[in-house]
Amino acid sequence: MPPGIRKTGTRPGLKVALYTTISLAAGCGGPQSALDPAGVAAEQIAALFWWMFAAAVLIWLVVIGIAVYATAIEPRSHAHRTGQLLIIIGGAVFPSVVLAILLVFTLPMLPVLKASPEPGLQVEVSGEQWWWRVRYLTGAGEAVELANEVRLPVGTPVEFILTSPDVIHSFWIPALGGKMDMIPGRVTRLTLEPTRTGTYNGVCAEYCGSAHALMKFMVRVMEPAAFREWLAAQAAPAAGPRDAAAAAGREAFMANGCGSCHTIRGTAADGALGPDLTHVGSRMTLGAGILANEAGEFLAWLRGPGHIKPGVRMPAFDMLPERDLEALAAYLESLQ
Ligand code: CUA
Repeated sequence: MPPGIRKTGTRPGLKVALYTTISLAAGCGGPQSALDPAGVAAEQIAALFWWMFAAAVLIWLVVIGIAVYATAIEPRSHAHRTGQLLIIIGGAVFPSVVLAILLVFTLPMLPVLKASPEPGLQVEVSGEQWWWRVRYLTGAGEAVELANEVRLPVGTPVEFILTSPDVIHSFWIPALGGKMDMIPGRVTRLTLEPTRTGTYNGVCAEYCGSAHALMKFMVRVMEPAAFREWLAAQAAPAAGPRDAAAAAGREAFMANGCGSCHTIRGTAADGALGPDLTHVGSRMTLGAGILANEAGEFLAWLRGPGHIKPGVRMPAFDMLPERDLEALAAYLESLQ
């Protein structure tokens, strides 16, 4: 081969390899990465991934090595027997050995991933179109309902009791463990044990309709004492309006029928179609992980939720006077 060809051929190849490695490595971290585990099950899954990845790289190198040998180093016809041996060893014996090793390695992992140790906490999550209804079971049949946010105490196995009223969703917190389908008419269960405090993303991992990609939820793993404090605050009814704007907003909320779809505990609003708004102002995001939690975003959502989340079931309230919308936004934002 002329030396020039090799030179120009290597550089773009090297660049592509570099860019690929960098972008792949960038995807290995962050709040939504299964390869940056923060839970017992996720650690097992990440370990399995890296073992499989290493084995795949090794096999790829061997195959490429053989291809280079056959095309560049010894580009001549080989004996019939050599070819046969290569097919038997490379095509049958080697894959069987590799798959057997993988089986031996992964089978003991299954009980760990499936196990439901005595859960320290039970959380019901229902996949809605397109948000997450979250209910903490606090004993004595009582439940605290919120939406699009899950907070967990670190080091405690948590059992998620999963369902859906209409379409199939899949509940997935990549940093904590595997995913589990939410199937209408059925209850599925998933136990996760967070090992590290922090904020992670949860996503829907099953195509469920027009806003499938717009139903995220936030997961915050906290120290147990902080978690108990948070849950107690969530269980409390909403505080009264803190100022005149919020008071006007509460009036507008009640007057315009918002309470037939939404609950605000401590008020007459007790609708169950949409998210519970008792402490909506304290949540990390709005609209299931797509908006920042601030008055301006509440306002945009009230005016036209369908522009922000196509297919959303909440109607637009752009027929209300601007003054009412602003008061509503101020009231909702004040529900800490
Ligand atoms: Cu819910 Cu995809």
